[in-house]
Amino acid sequence: MTVTVRVPAKVNVQLAVGGARPDGFHDLANVFLAVGLYDEVTVTPSDSLRVTCSGPDAAQVPLDRTNLAARAAIALAARHGLSPDVHIHIAKDIPVAGGMAGGSADGAGALLACDTLWGTRSPADELLEICAGLGSDVPFSLVGGAALGTGRGENLTPLDVGGTFHWVFAVADGGLSTPAVYGEFDRLTAGTEVPPPVASAVLLDALRTGDATALAGALANDLQPAALSLRPSLAATLAAGTDAGALAGLVSGSGPTTAFLTKDAEAAESVAAALVASGTCRTARVAQSPAAGATVTGAVG
Ligand code: C5P
Repeated sequence: MTVTVRVPAKVNVQLAVGGARPDGFHDLANVFLAVGLYDEVTVTPSDSLRVTCSGPDAAQVPLDRTNLAARAAIALAARHGLSPDVHIHIAKDIPVAGGMAGGSADGAGALLACDTLWGTRSPADELLEICAGLGSDVPFSLVGGAALGTGRGENLTPLDVGGTFHWVFAVADGGLSTPAVYGEFDRLTAGTEVPPPVASAVLLDALRTGDATALAGALANDLQPAALSLRPSLAATLAAGTDAGALAGLVSGSGPTTAFLTKDAEAAESVAAALVASGTCRTARVAQSPAAGATVTGAVG
């Protein structure tokens, strides 16, 4: 049998970051929104655990056991006393190391795909627990939609979204390391009192009512100064997107992808064209939100 799962990228419409915790992580108020850019994860029984990847950025994806998809298969197999002998193929369309949870998407996708392939039928809370063990953003990749993540981002509360939001994502050359961006956040905030992270009521209301203008006014990412400090050229990308008519722009998660909210699909196309023409990014992608979480799209054989 072969099982295919489709799993979305995310943007953080609010990423409020608290001070560093004793375990090195940061408490967050992380408002996740799944966007319609997808990786597809296909699993097939095999002699041993093996990961392959296709797509324009496939060369940047690690194929060893550091890949979250491989780790997901190992974690699920270990719980059920199975061997993780599976070929995992990732058809990658989410920007790599871009702050859009592409690696987390592959972890969540492989977990759901293996659970289906092996017939382990794990309840949702068990899948979410395995996801949380793989990484802070992995639980959200599984559930999709919109959610507030607290703790290190893994404790999710689903959020209502009252409309469709239209985005443009400017993909930068090269990735940014998430730990390096959090480290830069610590450096930039050293000696200051970092307030506890709180979700913005105005932002949650804008999501609930589907009001793009209000959401644009409330977009906030506490990691943005750190990402800009490590990658100053992102300031020019942000300026190019807003000059082109986006309602607002921000760094997506730990970057270096920048996200621009537009008023409709037509505006998104024109902002994307202007971003590409500006030469301040490698490419630009349009996508809508919210999007469904990890979904089995095929089970053959
Ligand atoms: O959980 P994940 O593996 O995605 O985290 C990667 C790194 O990002 C962590 O090792 C940590 O440096 C940083 N991080 C953090 N606080 C969070 C989430 C991630 O400091 N809430």
